Amino acid sequence: MADDLGFEHVFRAPASAHAPTLLLLHGTGGNEHDLVPLADTLAPGAGVLSPRGKVLERGMPRFFRRLSEGVFDLDDLRIRTHELAAFVAAAATHYGLDPKGIVAVGFSNGANIAASTLLLEPGVLAGAILFRAMVPIVPDPLPALGGTPVFMSNGRTDSLIPAAEADRLAVLLRQAGAIVDIEWQPGGHQLTRQDLAQAQTWWLGRWSA
Ligand code: MLT
Repeated sequence: MADDLGFEHVFRAPASAHAPTLLLLHGTGGNEHDLVPLADTLAPGAGVLSPRGKVLERGMPRFFRRLSEGVFDLDDLRIRTHELAAFVAAAATHYGLDPKGIVAVGFSNGANIAASTLLLEPGVLAGAILFRAMVPIVPDPLPALGGTPVFMSNGRTDSLIPAAEADRLAVLLRQAGAIVDIEWQPGGHQLTRQDLAQAQTWWLGRWSA
């Protein structure tokens, strides 16, 4: 789809006016198509809004710049987070989406910008599913996330995202008032069926009851 809303993206309307829309945020080197099959499994009937990250690292799309592995360019992260929030607002108006029904589903770099959106732009996301996220930024003061539900899934042997970093993010989000459920996978950075199964259980408990 054309980038007249600011990002190249895939959009699919929700099955009903009250169904949520998943904001899909791919990992480094991915694109707007990567997580669409995951959304179909996770939440059939949900809308899909899936932008492609605009930062290129050696040709690989990302959502914000990094200085090295796991070391983020915080100025760029702030700018890109506000830019993504503006895209979500513009897309909600353009497509007639419920702006209170946007739930992020991010993997790795996409999960990190989703976490940054929770922390810097509270109110944009009704919830988030974060696969392999770490602390992107620590805002001062913390936002008031007022019970926003967040599911995190991380790998115990992930060489890119140390377990302590994932734990630190869960603590930070809880301090900000989010309700965080965190699951641990025995493996590393790659998503597994168990990630998806646990996210699906969480989703069904939160959004389909
Ligand atoms: C990031 O840069 O957001 C994290 O290091 C994860 C990744 O490799 O994309």
